[in-house]
Amino acid sequence: MRASFEIHDVGRVGLGERFARYREMVDARLDKLVPAETVSPRSVHGAIRWSLFAGGKRFRPLLLLSVGESFGASEEKLLDAACALEMIHTYSLIHDDLPSMDDDELRRGRPTCHVKFGEATAILAGDALQTLAFQTIAEDENLSGQVRARIIAEVARASGVPAGMVAGQAYDLAAESRDVTGEELEKIHRYKTGALITASARAGAIIAGANREEINAISRYAERLGLLFQITDDLLDVTATAEALGKTPGKDARSSKATYPALYGLEAARKLAHDVHEEACAALRPIEKDTASLRSLADFILNRRA
Ligand code: IPE
Ligand code: IPE
Ligand code: MG
Ligand code: MG
Ligand code: MG
Repeated sequence: MRASFEIHDVGRVGLGERFARYREMVDARLDKLVPAETVSPRSVHGAIRWSLFAGGKRFRPLLLLSVGESFGASEEKLLDAACALEMIHTYSLIHDDLPSMDDDELRRGRPTCHVKFGEATAILAGDALQTLAFQTIAEDENLSGQVRARIIAEVARASGVPAGMVAGQAYDLAAESRDVTGEELEKIHRYKTGALITASARAGAIIAGANREEINAISRYAERLGLLFQITDDLLDVTATAEALGKTPGKDARSSKATYPALYGLEAARKLAHDVHEEACAALRPIEKDTASLRSLADFILNRRA
C-alpha cells in the first residue's frame, strides 16, 4: 500500500475536501476520455490505463482547477484541460521510465509501463496520451475556439522544445555524464518539470479570463512552484521509501543525476526548497482574489512525503 498523499487542511477549512473532490472529478472524466481496454488496439489502451489509473497525485489538474476557480471559472470549463495536462504528464512518466531514459521498474506503486507491456507498447501508450491530450483540448466545446488554440499553444510549448519538458529531459540525460552549475541545474528543473506546471496554472487563468497582470503573477507563482516540485522530488529520492513514493528511491545517485541534494547537500537543498516556497507565496500577494487554495498547494509541495 502506498502512503496517503492527501492534502490536509492547513487551517483552511474545506480545502482538503475540495482537492479530494477535484481528484474524483478528474479520474471520472479521464475514464471517459480514454478508450476502454476492450477497444482495439487493446494493448495500447490497456497500457495507457495501467499507467494513468495507478494513483498519481493529479497535482497538475488540481493546480489548473484551483487557479481557474480562484479567478471565477466554472469547473465545467476547466475539467477537460485539467485532464489533458494529466495525460501529457503521464506520457512523460512512461517515457521517463524507459530503459533508454531513467530505466525504472516501479511507478505509482506498480511495475512501469514497459515492464508490464513491453517497450514498444509503452512508447506507443506515451505517444497516444500526448496526442489525446491535444485532441481533448481541441474538441472541448465548453471553450471558445480562440481559448482552445491558446491553451493548445501553451501546453505544446511547455511540453516540447526548446524550453519545455522534452528539452529539460534532454538536458537531464546529458547532465548524467558531466557536472552542472547551480544555474544549469535550475534550468533543467524549470524545463523538465516546471514548464508543464506553469502551463497548468496559466491554462486555468486563461480559461477564467484573467487579465495580463494576473496571468503574469500566476506565472511567477507557478514557475517557483514548479522548481519547488522538482527540488522536493530530488529530496524524496534520497530520503523516502519505495512504499511511500511508489517508485524506487536512490536512483538519482546511482544514475549520477544532477539534483539539488547532489549539488548542494541535503540541508542546503531543504533550505533552498523553503526559500523557493516563500517566493512562490510572495508572487501571489498582488493578486486581489482568494488564493488560499494556491497557498495550500505550495505548502503541500513543500511538505509532501510522496
Ligand atoms: C513525478 O511527478 C515526476 C516529476 C515531474 C517530478 P509526480 O510526483 O507528479 O508523479 P505522480 O503524478 O504523483 O505519480
Ligand atoms: C521527471 O524527473 C521529469 C519528467 C519529465 C517526467 P525525474 O526523472 O526525477 O522523475 P521521477 O523521479 O522518475 O518521477
Ligand atoms: Mg528523469
Ligand atoms: Mg525518472
Ligand atoms: Mg526524480
